[in-house]
Amino acid sequence: MKKFLDLGLQPLANKYLTKKDLINRKKEQFYHLEVGFDNKTKLVSILNKISSYKMFDNDYPYRSSMSKTMTDSFKKLSKKIIRDYKSRFILEIGSNDGSLIQNFNKKKVICVEPCKNLAKITKKKGFKTYDEYWDINLAKKIKSKYRNIDLIYSANTLSHIANLDSVFKSINYVLSDDGILIIEDPSLLECLKRVAYDQFYNEHIYVFSLLSIMNIIKKHNLQVFKVEKLKTHGGSIRYFIKKKVNLKIKIHNSVKKHLQDELKYKMNNFKTYIKFRNKVKKSKRNLVSILNDIKRKNKKVIGYGSTAKSVTILNYCKIKSETLDYFVDTTPNKTNKYMPGTHIHIKNYKKSLLDDVDYIFLGAWNFKDEIFKKEKKFIKRGGKFITHIPTPKII
Ligand code: TMP
Repeated sequence: MKKFLDLGLQPLANKYLTKKDLINRKKEQFYHLEVGFDNKTKLVSILNKISSYKMFDNDYPYRSSMSKTMTDSFKKLSKKIIRDYKSRFILEIGSNDGSLIQNFNKKKVICVEPCKNLAKITKKKGFKTYDEYWDINLAKKIKSKYRNIDLIYSANTLSHIANLDSVFKSINYVLSDDGILIIEDPSLLECLKRVAYDQFYNEHIYVFSLLSIMNIIKKHNLQVFKVEKLKTHGGSIRYFIKKKVNLKIKIHNSVKKHLQDELKYKMNNFKTYIKFRNKVKKSKRNLVSILNDIKRKNKKVIGYGSTAKSVTILNYCKIKSETLDYFVDTTPNKTNKYMPGTHIHIKNYKKSLLDDVDYIFLGAWNFKDEIFKKEKKFIKRGGKFITHIPTPKII
């Protein structure tokens, strides 16, 4: 791994602090956020990895059902899966609070979700849920009970697991020979194009490209046969994968097309990542300058969406509560808490909290359309948004 980006000392992204933590001056864990490129596999990853046990515990705050964009995307995919792969028995790795599997028949799905607070939700709804980490031991346990699984789905999860060889070996073990693996994760191409350096934080160990996925899975006898571009999470890729065994796999044109796009952007070349680093430095300078100008005019600025991504931005750009009065968010486990590192207060979203606000920093820039639709009143009375994507600006 060759380092190309240094985002400084960062706190663990989803570790929001309580008021009691602040009073007791609780010591937060920081790590050095550096990002590197592996010339052999073309994989981009953070260099200092945090243990899964520390990140995905029994009090994990992120809920995929909190956004209509996500639930709509899952509903659309579920319809497609039911239509195209009728009788499949499905395993979801990283089922969160069940926003995808709730669209399926309970008898035809099993969930894997190591965060016990989230697993509890799907268990309560009657879905068979293993509250364990995905590895070969769990794969063996599942296979002995359910024989082969013929569809495995995993969204925004595999990029969170350090040992990719173990991940794909375990998938290979349970997946039937004609089974299908569907994974989706943020797209490195979109991350580079949008200068979305906030895709990097301790949980996002990898930001995948088609190039890197193809290199990693080939030693596990797996092959990408189709890709779809998604708008979710600021631009994601959905990879459709099959086992190579005894099958003549028809490769969809989308694979060739996306590969060409990645090569055209020179994603196989380290120099591209150095260019990205320079854009990140410029993005920081411009965002800080926009915020300083606004504060000099005594305007009120808040944050919208206390995302894990914005933790990277705030700590890298050193934006604190002198600049952003507070964040608003709808997630119950985040509200009335404080942002990691910068300790900006997170208030439970209420429309009236925007009444005297002049500018809103879009922490959840990936939900811009959904938020703009929701905040028509704020926009109509002259309220402005600030985003750093793709370059810092006021909109
Ligand atoms: P994510 O970008 O990591 O998916 O997180 C999005 C965050 O934004 C999540 O904490 C929920 C929050 N959010 C709101 O508070 N209101 C909204 O309207 C939307 C779309 C998201």
